[in-house]
Amino acid sequence: MPDILVTENITGAEMDALRSAFDVVSEPQLWQSPDELHRRIEDFRAIVVRNQTKVNAELMAAGKRLEVIARAGVGLDNVDAAAASAAGIVVVYAPEQNSISVAELAIGMMLALARQLPAADASTKSGKWERQRFTGTELFNKTLGIVGLGRIGFLTAMRARAFGMEILAHDNFVNPDSFVVSECRAKLVGLDELLERSDVISCHLPETPQTMGLFNYERFSRMRSGAIFVNTSRGGVVDEADLVRALREKKLAGAALDVRAKEPPEKSELAEMENVLLTPHIAAFTVEGQRRVVTSVCRDVAAVLRGQPAKNYFNFPTPRRG
Ligand code: MLT
Repeated sequence: MPDILVTENITGAEMDALRSAFDVVSEPQLWQSPDELHRRIEDFRAIVVRNQTKVNAELMAAGKRLEVIARAGVGLDNVDAAAASAAGIVVVYAPEQNSISVAELAIGMMLALARQLPAADASTKSGKWERQRFTGTELFNKTLGIVGLGRIGFLTAMRARAFGMEILAHDNFVNPDSFVVSECRAKLVGLDELLERSDVISCHLPETPQTMGLFNYERFSRMRSGAIFVNTSRGGVVDEADLVRALREKKLAGAALDVRAKEPPEKSELAEMENVLLTPHIAAFTVEGQRRVVTSVCRDVAAVLRGQPAKNYFNFPTPRRG
């Protein structure tokens, strides 16, 4: 019987190590065929996914031998962790291994928009030399509003401080006296105040029923007219039609989105706007970030299958199947 089913493109030295110790079946396109996946899961003790495979209660019920579900990343949007817990299946993930990569992309996007790099690049490649047109703004002395001061929000704030930015943060779950707040010298404020006072707003929220569509027309309208909005968290927190409208009406100066409500996205006016920077959910995709992610989840899968406790688990370290 095979041991581990990998349903997305997950490679690296630690995956090779997993292969040498276990029977691993890699089907990087299988996430696209849920019916086939449901038929085949029965044989496996572990499934390793990124963010495309829908690991729901039905799949778990079909996976009668499943002991561990591994999510090569931090977001568990595509894994029904409650169902896994109810079924006694361990969920392992990579809660912090790609955080630096994401924070660096958020900073890169801020700089790219403040200096109009996408438009300047397109103009220069088309043969023009438009220096005055691409007069940008500095990040120095500007206010960065971090929405969601978790690990990635914190790392982004720390990097922004090095640029001389003031930090405002909004997070309903962070204590104002906590280390993260004092270390990045953030001022915790309400969301409306943050939107009204920030020159750059960077979103670092998970997608939950409370955060879905949080950035809507009303909230974009509260932003300063020169504000830049950056989202490297989850696409569902932004109402994209409202963002298009707000950009058209110049409620904000520009937006950078690494994540989309639907991935891959449908055709959108966002792609036509020169003050919008779009990337294909690559924030976590650096050599270093991926090495840490793949190492972490592969080691945890191996541990669970050997009857040892996982280190980076979401629910419990060893299976609790009856
Ligand atoms: C994460 O959740 O770790 C990142 O968004 C990347 C991914 O979804 O794989």
